[in-house]
Amino acid sequence: MSLGVGLLGLGTVGTGVAEILLNPEGRQPLVQQLRLRKIGVRNLKKPRAIPLPPSSLTDQLEAVVDNPGVDVVVEMLGGLEPARRLILRAIGMGKPVVTANKAVIAHHGVEINAAAAQAGVYVLMEAAVGGGIPIIEPLKQSLGANRIQRIIGIINGTTNYILTRMGSEGAAFAHVLADAQALGYAEADPTADVEGHDAADKITIMAGLAYGGLVQRQQVPTEGIRHLQATDLAYADQLGYTLKLLATAARLGQDRDGTQLLDVHVHPTLVPKDHPIAGVKGVNNAVLVEGEPVGQVMFYGPGAGSGPTASAVVADMLNIAAIREVAHGSHAGLDPLLAAVSWRQCRLADGQLTSHSNYVRLKVQDHPGVIGQIGACFGAEGVSIRSIIQVDNNPEEAEVVVVTQQVQEARFRRSLAALEQLDSVISVACCLRTL
Ligand code: HSE
Repeated sequence: MSLGVGLLGLGTVGTGVAEILLNPEGRQPLVQQLRLRKIGVRNLKKPRAIPLPPSSLTDQLEAVVDNPGVDVVVEMLGGLEPARRLILRAIGMGKPVVTANKAVIAHHGVEINAAAAQAGVYVLMEAAVGGGIPIIEPLKQSLGANRIQRIIGIINGTTNYILTRMGSEGAAFAHVLADAQALGYAEADPTADVEGHDAADKITIMAGLAYGGLVQRQQVPTEGIRHLQATDLAYADQLGYTLKLLATAARLGQDRDGTQLLDVHVHPTLVPKDHPIAGVKGVNNAVLVEGEPVGQVMFYGPGAGSGPTASAVVADMLNIAAIREVAHGSHAGLDPLLAAVSWRQCRLADGQLTSHSNYVRLKVQDHPGVIGQIGACFGAEGVSIRSIIQVDNNPEEAEVVVVTQQVQEARFRRSLAALEQLDSVISVACCLRTL
């Protein structure tokens, strides 16, 4: 039974999807059943990288969704609108949707999932997180028997590329970003990547699946990498760490009514060099899942790009084609594992009450007793120091780098405020998490 595909968007990923659909030889036999019927683009005049079936292109995006020959709508537009509107339109017509759009799912997942559940159609999103790495389906299905304790992800290739080069070359952020843009790794507007928003969208989606309930994207504390200096990567290296932009979700406990209490955040984080995720370099992504009873499982691979992301998109289409094959077009109801139906409430913990280990770089006057004063400020708030180093920059000024033990965020922030009041502390120059 063939499945008519309506593709919305023919950018890098859309082109990769079209290439697979138009060249099915040597792939899973079901790929041959995916028929590319219509492609909706914003600009009909733009030159295309691949030959396309005559009259498949249109700039009428709604018409692609409405086309009676289109059985599944594949949304590759990105961004919130018109993607949200077109996804809801497809659902309203009883058509399943495949999307690579993490932003629209992270921000409008409640509305989209509710509409999909009501209409009894799937909205699949394997490509929205980790590009070519299969992580969505494992969270929904293969790891479904586990209690997920923690997810640690390097899920933005642009920032991982920048941090890898800043660390290995001692280069400045702006210099490496310009290179990444020239190489096509970073977008012309890199805001969503370097400010951590892209990673926050992705960890919101993963946390929702792992913990069975909606996570409020707007409440996820998010810090990017724009402010980082090569000097902090060098200190991290001396201390036995590598610096990564980590997106983390952890279960802290549950309320009396069963609501899951979660700590979900995105922060530049020092990772011990012997940690499995520390060796993930360049544009690659990795997701480490800790579950009971499985233990640690790590997914690693290309997190972006035309081919890898298209691989995940087409995998979702194959799931839809396979289900239709089994159901022979009849309405057999949704497979709850594939549809990933929410089954409980989640809420995010107050960030001030969560606990973390921290890295702090202070610029200080080089006087006798300064280290003692710093230790006293931390000690007064119960912040225990794991390691401390001092580097003299000149006769008057030194840098002191402290790594703390795990401490409640509110206590740590109070100790920083007290440090800033000291005459001998010129500034708190950098503050990062450690894993
Ligand atoms: N811009 C993303 C990244 C890829 O740099 O990883 C798409 O999610």
